[in-house]
Amino acid sequence: MARWPVALVTGASSGIGRAIAVRLAADGSDLVVVARRKDRLEALAEELHNRHGVDVEVLVADVTVPEQLAAVEDRLRTGEPAVDLLVNNAGAGGQGPFAEQDLDHHDNLVRLNVLAPVRLTHAALERMLPRGHGGILNVSSIAGLQPLPNVATYAATKAYLSSFSHALHEEVRHRGVSVTALLPGFTRTEFHEAGGINRTVVPGPLWMKSDVVAKAGLRAVARGRAQCVPGPVYRVAAAISGVTPWALSRRVLGAVLGTP
Ligand SMILES: NC(=O)c1ccc[n+]([C@@H]2O[C@H](COP(=O)([O-])OP(=O)(O)OC[C@H]3O[C@@H](n4cnc5c(N)ncnc54)[C@H](OP(=O)(O)O)[C@@H]3O)[C@@H](O)[C@H]2O)c1
Repeated sequence: MARWPVALVTGASSGIGRAIAVRLAADGSDLVVVARRKDRLEALAEELHNRHGVDVEVLVADVTVPEQLAAVEDRLRTGEPAVDLLVNNAGAGGQGPFAEQDLDHHDNLVRLNVLAPVRLTHAALERMLPRGHGGILNVSSIAGLQPLPNVATYAATKAYLSSFSHALHEEVRHRGVSVTALLPGFTRTEFHEAGGINRTVVPGPLWMKSDVVAKAGLRAVARGRAQCVPGPVYRVAAAISGVTPWALSRRVLGAVLGTP
C-alpha cells in the first residue's frame, strides 16, 4: 500500500510540484493535482494513470483567487476520498527593488506563498487530526533563512512558511500528523523565467534537479522530519545562515544581489 494513499499537490503543472506528483504516483498514491494550466494537468493525469494505474483528479484553480482557493479547501475538508498528504508547493518569486515593483506583485506573492498554504493547511488539519493520520509538506526555500535585499517579499514569505511549518510540526506531531518544511536551493524549473530572474549568474554546480528535491522532501515528510534541506552545499549554507546575524547577512547579500 502507498505511504500516502491520496495526496493533493498544488503547483503540479511544472517543476518541483510535478516531480513530487510523479514520485507519489510511482509509489502508488492517487492524486489531486492543482494549478492554473488545465492542459498541463490533464496531460500529467493521463500520463500517470497510464504508467502507474493511479487515479488522478484534476482541480484547476488559481489559489490567489479566494473563490478558487475555497474550492481546494473544500476538496480537503469534505471531498472523497480523504487526502492523506497535502503538498503546498505552488509558489512564485521575482527580483527587484521593492518600492519600484508594482504593489500587486507583492500582494500576489503573499496570497500565493503565504495565504494559500495557511488556508489549505487549516482545511487539511481539520480532517487529518480527527483521523490521527496525515502529512503536510510545505515547499519553502533557503531564501527564507535570511533577509534578501531586492528579493524582500519572496524571502519574507518563505521565512513565514518555514516558521509556520516548524511551529505546526510541534503542535501536531503527537497526533499522527507530520508537518515538514522543504527548503530547496536553486533548482532547475520554470520558476526563474516566470519571475524574470537571471539564471546565468548562478554557477552550474549550485543547480539541483527537481526530482532530487522531490525525493528528499517526500522522504522527510514520511519520516516525520520538521525540515529538509536537499543537497550538501545547501545544508552547509543553511547551517551558516543559522549562526549569522541579520545585520551582517543583509549587507553581504545586499552587495551580492545589488543594492544601490
Ligand atoms: N526553483 C527554485 O530554485 C526554487 C528554490 C527554492 C524554492 N522553490 C519553491 O518551489 C516551489 C515550486 O516552484 P518551482 O521551482 O517548481 O517553479 P515552477 O516550475 O514555476 O512551478 C510553480 C508551480 O506553481 C503553480 N502556480 C503558480 N502560481 C499559481 C497560482 N496562482 N495558482 C495555482 N498554482 C500556481 C504553477 O502552475 P500554473 O502556472 O499552471 O498555475 C506551477 O505548477 C515554489 O514554492 C518555489 O518558491 C523553488
